Amino acid sequence: MRLFLDTANLDEIREIARWGILSGVTTNPTLLAKEGKDVRQVIVEICEIVDGPVSMEVVSTEAEGMVREAREYAAWHPNVIIKIPMTAEGLAATAVLARENIRVNMTLIFNPNQALFAALAGATYVSPFLGRLDDISTDGMELIREVVAVFRADSNIHTQVLAASLRHPRHIVEAAKAGADVATCPPAVIRKALKHPLTDIGLERFLNDWKQLEAVLAKEAVRAS
Ligand code: E4P
Repeated sequence: MRLFLDTANLDEIREIARWGILSGVTTNPTLLAKEGKDVRQVIVEICEIVDGPVSMEVVSTEAEGMVREAREYAAWHPNVIIKIPMTAEGLAATAVLARENIRVNMTLIFNPNQALFAALAGATYVSPFLGRLDDISTDGMELIREVVAVFRADSNIHTQVLAASLRHPRHIVEAAKAGADVATCPPAVIRKALKHPLTDIGLERFLNDWKQLEAVLAKEAVRAS
């Protein structure tokens, strides 16, 4: 499973990209609004930091407007892929864009039929939102499992499952076990997943023991001189 970062914050993207674990970035209007910067500049800069798909979402609600926006955003950088919401108009726009080889990440997927329709319309990725389902006491991970099963059952489907709306580190490993192609994670979730108290305690002990060894060797060197 590949990992995308779910943010439009350039500092976070720069830092986590250095760790070599990222294959792409997802943004949405909420994440871009949080940054309050020129959207085109932010997206192009993200594309230059991370060499992989970078999702930019349309805000039109009619297919024609979605297609117009998508063509414009796709011309910003070859890494840009277009996030289209799961609506009837979104499906119509996706069908047009797929014929033009403009990659679509169909977003706001909350049931397996929506995912299937997105795939049939030609989406490159579908984004089931597991955290938002968990938030309303529905098993979000079960949706990931069902979408993966539906796609695997049909060899004509090449659409990838992008697990979205992750809330905690367990979601990453569970999405991988469920067979998601990608998980997109907020920086805070990745930071939490990276940490383990036994790693910190273990490292501290190794470094202290090394210091003690250096001190012993230094004393011996003084004695021998
Ligand atoms: C990703 O593509 C989505 O925009 C994102 O994961 C939504 O996450 P949220 O439910 O935490 O807002």
